[in-house]
Formats: sequence, structure tokens, C-alpha cells
Amino acid sequence: MRSYFRAPLTSLSGPVQPPPPGVCPLSLAAIMSSIISVANLSKTYGSGFKALKNVNLDIKRGEIFALLGPNGAGKTTLISIICGIANPSEGRVLVGGEDIQTSYRKARSLIGLVPQELHTDAFESVWATVSFSRGLFGKPKNPAHIEKVLKDLSLWDKKDNKIITLSGGMKRRVMIAKALSHEPQILFLDEPTAGVDVELRKGMWEVVRTLQQSGVTIILTTHYIEEAEEMADRIGVINKGEIVLVEDKTTLMHKLGKKRLTLHLQGKIAALPENLHHYELELCDNGATLVYDYDTKGERTGITSLLGDLRTAGIRFNDLDTTQSSLEDIFVDLVRTS
Ligand SMILES: Nc1ncnc2c1ncn2[C@@H]1O[C@H](COP(=O)(O)OP(=O)(O)OP(=O)(O)O)[C@@H](O)[C@H]1O
Ligand SMILES: [Mg+2]
Repeated sequence: MRSYFRAPLTSLSGPVQPPPPGVCPLSLAAIMSSIISVANLSKTYGSGFKALKNVNLDIKRGEIFALLGPNGAGKTTLISIICGIANPSEGRVLVGGEDIQTSYRKARSLIGLVPQELHTDAFESVWATVSFSRGLFGKPKNPAHIEKVLKDLSLWDKKDNKIITLSGGMKRRVMIAKALSHEPQILFLDEPTAGVDVELRKGMWEVVRTLQQSGVTIILTTHYIEEAEEMADRIGVINKGEIVLVEDKTTLMHKLGKKRLTLHLQGKIAALPENLHHYELELCDNGATLVYDYDTKGERTGITSLLGDLRTAGIRFNDLDTTQSSLEDIFVDLVRTS
């Protein structure tokens, strides 16, 4: 099942700018189609711990990309490096074609980051803190933009409130407003809905969708699989510092439309008889069970004819069951085995 869902990762080749030694050059095509290109990225912390291992990842302009992974997988580390907060040990990151290390200011100005840990100046007003964030990027004042951002995030009526007087969900939205204050093309949301109630989470999804419609590329990390399912155009899974899957959500969901029929046979069989060879059947448990994968969304499942052909072949079964894999199954399986 696992290999079934494993997507080939983007390969990058062909020179654009001379890369640092030991790093694969990036192709022009990869840069044109992707707003972020991560190539051969590794991170070893001072403690000697290897948090990222040869990560290759392209983020397409305008997409919502969800990065899933268990605690400690390396999500925040990866985001921190892409945003220029942490240095890579090996590899290279281009943001809008700009190298995050050698062209930090240009690359960073394209990015808005809502970090996992929220910290704001509790005694500033919403308006002041969001306006100040814009100033940090050296952008001229633009009250109309700040007003739009606050209105989009339903914070307009709180603009004069001190941050300390806001609820947790409102504070999170202030962090998004800060991240959007300098009109970035890319927004990173590191666990935007952790500890957020269901209603607020849905509100957050709405905000993210609206942002995407306005042309912003969004990368979010989450532990909630349904969040990735709901929001993302593409889903990536990271585990122990390695990207183990990158897939279009629709492709993934289509694959999830597959069901598995397991037939528990009355007696073991050594091999499949000739008349069953054209089915995609697998003989398991030393010939005690037959496994048949079929597409619930296809015109025909093939089950009726399979059962008829089994009868013709004299193969009888005691019991049968069907299972449908979910994104959660795939995720758990990937994380357990990678
Ligand atoms: N400054 C640091 N020094 C040493 N190790 C670190 C440092 N920051 C993170 N790590 C380690 O790197 C690994 C990845 O951490 P990271 O914060 O990137 O994980 P994560 O996927 O964001 O996890 P979570 O879902 O809990 O937020 C962890 O094992 C963590 O302990
Ligand atoms: Mg994290």
C-alpha cells in the first residue's frame, strides 16, 4: 500500500546560478514554475542532531501546500531555514529565484511568517503592532493596506485594543495580520490551528482560501489530517527529517477511493487458477486469503464477475471483509515505516 502512494520527488538539474559546492544546480524550469525551491537541504544542530536530511522540495506559485509530520519531524526547522532564520548545514533554498542566504533581504521580503510560538508585545494596540511589522521590512507606511488586512481578518473592531485583551484566536489572527503587513507573496503558517476550536479553525481556513485567491502562496504545517485534506492543493509528509511523500491532494484522494476486498478461504490454495489470472488478485497468508483491490469510483468494481469466477474455479470462502484506506492510514503507515 505504501509504495502505491509514494510520489517521486522533484529532481532538479541544469545550471542557473553557480551553486555552493556539493549542491545540485537548479533548472530554469524548476525556478519558473516554483516560487520556492529547496535542494539537497540538510540541517545538523550544534548538538550534533540531524534534523533535516537531504530535503528536496518545490513549492508552486499560488498553491496551498500542507506539510504533515509528527512532533519533531523537522517542519519548523525546514520553515526556519526557508525563512532565513536558521542556516542550513548543506543545500540551498531559492525564494522567488533569490538565494535565502546570499540574497537574504530580497528573498525574505517575499515571505510572511506566522511562527508556531506566538509572541507579541502584549501592551501595544493591534493597529500599532501590525503597522510596526510592516516598518520592519522597510516598507513605506500604507494605512489602507493595514486596514484591509485587519478587515479581512475580522480584527477591524479590535484595532485599538491592546493585544493582551484579545482572545487566543484573535491573537493568532493578529500574528497573521503582522505576517501580511508587508504584502508578502508567500505566507508560512506553522500550525495555525493548533489548540484552536472547530469554529475558529473553519474561520481560519476561510482566511487562508481568501488569501490564496488574492494570489498568495501558502505553506502550512499541521497535525490535523483533515485540515490538510480540506485545505491543501498538495500534501507533503515529513518524518525524521526526510520528506517521505509529496502528492497532489486530488490524486491522493483518488487513490483513497480504492477499496480492498479480503476473502478468507475455506481451504488454502497453492496458486491462482488460470481463470483468475486477469484479476489483480494477491494470494496472502500462505494461500489462506485472497486480496482484491478495486476502485469504488470506477464504473465497475469487478466483484460480481470475480465471485462468479471463484465459484467456477471451486474456490470457496468462509468470510469476507472490505476496507478503505484513509489519508490517516497512509500517514500513520508512512511515519511508522520510514
Ligand atoms: N535549536 C535546536 N537545537 C537542537 N535541536 C533542535 C533545535 N531545534 C529543533 N531541534 C530538534 O530538531 C528536531 C526537529 O524539530 P522541529 O521543531 O523542526 O520539529 P517539528 O516537526 O516542527 O515538530 P512539532 O510538530 O513538534 O512542532 C527535533 O528533534 C528537535 O528536538
Ligand atoms: Mg514545529
